[in-house]
Amino acid sequence: MKETRPSATAQRVAMRRASHQLLDDPKVFDDPIALRIIGKEDASALQTDPRQSEATPLSPYLRAFVAARSRYAEDELALGVRRGVRQYVILGAGLDTFAYRNPHPQGVLHVFEVDYPSTQTWKRACLDEVGIALPDDLTFGPVDFETQTLEEGLRAAGYDPGKSTFFSWLGVTEYLTTEAVMATLRFIASAPMGSGVVFDYMIAPSLLTPAQRSSFDTLERRVASAGEPWQAFFDPGLLTRDLQAMGFGYVKDKGPGEINARYFTNRKDGLRVGSLSHVMNAQV
Ligand SMILES: C[S@@+](CC[C@H](N)C(=O)[O-])C[C@H]1O[C@@H](n2cnc3c(N)ncnc32)[C@H](O)[C@@H]1O
Repeated sequence: MKETRPSATAQRVAMRRASHQLLDDPKVFDDPIALRIIGKEDASALQTDPRQSEATPLSPYLRAFVAARSRYAEDELALGVRRGVRQYVILGAGLDTFAYRNPHPQGVLHVFEVDYPSTQTWKRACLDEVGIALPDDLTFGPVDFETQTLEEGLRAAGYDPGKSTFFSWLGVTEYLTTEAVMATLRFIASAPMGSGVVFDYMIAPSLLTPAQRSSFDTLERRVASAGEPWQAFFDPGLLTRDLQAMGFGYVKDKGPGEINARYFTNRKDGLRVGSLSHVMNAQV
């Protein structure tokens, strides 16, 4: 990340969520403001040609994964709220729209959006530009995961460490160093019982087949040229073991087989996720 520039990949991912609303039926992730938040110009271009940013053979897999990880995180958040979760921390929020369509009655769930400072400043300008109001139960917490601790950033934002909290961390871990990812997960593991995190991560390239490796190389070049190179990759078995050692009592890794079985069965369009990333659900 560059200090003065917002994340370019945050806009790309938001474009995929918006394309999903227009292209895929049934939708896996229904986000009524996904199109609005990308800005008037991009929204109007997408409405004219929803496939404009979905033109490569890998695009449907990436779009499906972006939709599925948000759906899974919000499904798990809803279960958490029923168990007593009262804070939702969206790590590396980008143009995530949950806070602006929060379905829970006011006062039940406080949302914290944590992001790289320049991305957060840009998001606030995007919200302002398209007239999306800031809800009372939202607080922004600017944090650079590489140079600050999440604990410091959240404390400054008014986070209550005594409350059961759900964290999501979508499309972010691959852009960080392994040390920064682990430090943040250790902090989450110290949250009160009932807390948890859903995050996605990239499979270590050494574990990929040659065909998967070729897709990986294509995507890796693309993000590096956007100035946001991938840095952290994981082995699902080792990551599960590390999370258990941190103190998470429930750790469930979801690969493409489980994600496709859960969200992409009986579709006429064949939409499904690919195999370069997994989603992890870890609960304290
Ligand atoms: C691909 S975007 C994903 C955004 C969002 N989670 C989503 O799914 O739409 C990556 C996000 O990670 C954030 N990020 C990358 N490096 C970061 C860092 N060192 N500290 C904090 N946030 C970071 C970017 O600002 C951006 O919001």
